[in-house]
Amino acid sequence: MAQLFTPAATTLFRVAIVLTCLGIVAGGAMAYVWARSGSTWNVGKPAAQPIPFRHDLHSGSLGIDCRYCHSTVERAADAGMPSAQTCMSCHSQVWVGASVLEPVRSSFILGQPIEWASVHRLPDYAYFHHAVHVTEGVACETCHGRVDQMPKTVKTQTMSMGWCLDCHRNPVPHLRPREAVFEMGYEPHGKGLPEDVRAFYQEASRRLTSCNTCHR
Ligand code: HEC
Ligand code: HEC
Ligand code: HEC
Ligand code: HEC
Ligand code: HEC
Repeated sequence: MAQLFTPAATTLFRVAIVLTCLGIVAGGAMAYVWARSGSTWNVGKPAAQPIPFRHDLHSGSLGIDCRYCHSTVERAADAGMPSAQTCMSCHSQVWVGASVLEPVRSSFILGQPIEWASVHRLPDYAYFHHAVHVTEGVACETCHGRVDQMPKTVKTQTMSMGWCLDCHRNPVPHLRPREAVFEMGYEPHGKGLPEDVRAFYQEASRRLTSCNTCHR
């Protein structure tokens, strides 16, 4: 039987197949990188809020402690969100008639919570607990950035599994003394931690990186 394709055409065909395969792999890899990159984790993107609340003003300029509004952060899994009553402790005296504060006043009168949009929200299958971190010396700033400088609240970290694990493998360099957990602009000095803390986390890192610590 006569040859159907010339040797040159066969070679061309093989090259085309290889290139197509490479293209699919590269495309897949790019899609994966894109899907796991900062932009798709909403890093730096503010959410639309019912009230233009500003941390830079309340935490930065006025210096109100995080716990005044996020009152369960040292005790519970959730940090807790302020009730309208918490806002009204000041706003029954300052900016009293301001129209931007109308949703605060109506929530206060109706006794209903203000519906803040979430900036950080893990999927349901991932378990997180604020108090275990905060009481072991992991600071708000380490996970949430310079909140005291934010006119609009944004994520500064991806909150991805890889990000959690980066710390869980060796938390020591990220730890602060307990009293500096709410401080902003602090230089972490894990190096100054006592030797037994290091030894503890060398032991604990296996537990901290096992799947059922965060997927229970
Ligand atoms: C400890 C007192 C205090 C508490 C608590 C407080 N605020 Fe304020 N807030 C102020 C002061 C003081 C100003 C005005 C600052 C100024 O005029 O520069 C202000 C200003 C504002 C403004 C106007 C910001 C702007 O655009 O300049 C908004 C909106 C606001 N607060 C919302 C809230 C909300 C929502 C809460 C509750 C989650 C709250 N505040 C809790 C003291 C407080
Ligand atoms: C006067 C009250 C008040 C104080 C003080 C305050 N916050 Fe908030 N915080 C709020 C309100 C209201 C929201 C919801 C609106 C927003 O996201 O900006 C919020 C949202 C947040 C969020 C995002 C929550 C989400 O849905 O993912 C983080 C993180 C946060 N605060 C951290 C802090 C830290 C850290 C401090 C201390 C430096 C602090 N806050 C001090 C009132 C406060
Ligand atoms: C180890 C990292 C880490 C630390 C430390 C941390 N947070 Fe968070 N924070 C998170 C994660 C992750 C979420 C999302 C939780 C979820 O969806 O289950 C979150 C959510 C929040 C929220 C939204 C409400 C909620 O509870 O889901 C607020 C408010 C908040 N954090 C405030 C704070 C404050 C204030 C501090 C310091 C006292 C702090 N966080 C320390 C990681 C951290
Ligand atoms: C900057 C460091 C750091 C980051 C980031 C961090 N963690 Fe942790 N995590 C710790 C430390 C430290 C402990 C406390 C370990 C101890 O002393 O038992 C801890 C403990 C925990 C525990 C309790 C473990 C147990 O055995 O009871 C859970 C659950 C947890 N982390 C989930 C998460 C998740 C989910 C994320 C990401 C969204 C995260 N962590 C990000 C440092 C971190
Ligand atoms: C320190 C906490 C932590 C540990 C330990 C952990 N995970 Fe996760 N995992 C998360 C968080 C947070 C998410 C959600 C964010 C994301 O998708 O990265 C997640 C997401 C996932 C997803 C969905 C990922 C996707 O791309 O949608 C899978 C599957 C998963 N984890 C499997 C595992 C397995 C298997 C282990 C053990 C080898 C493990 N995880 C250990 C925190 C953790």
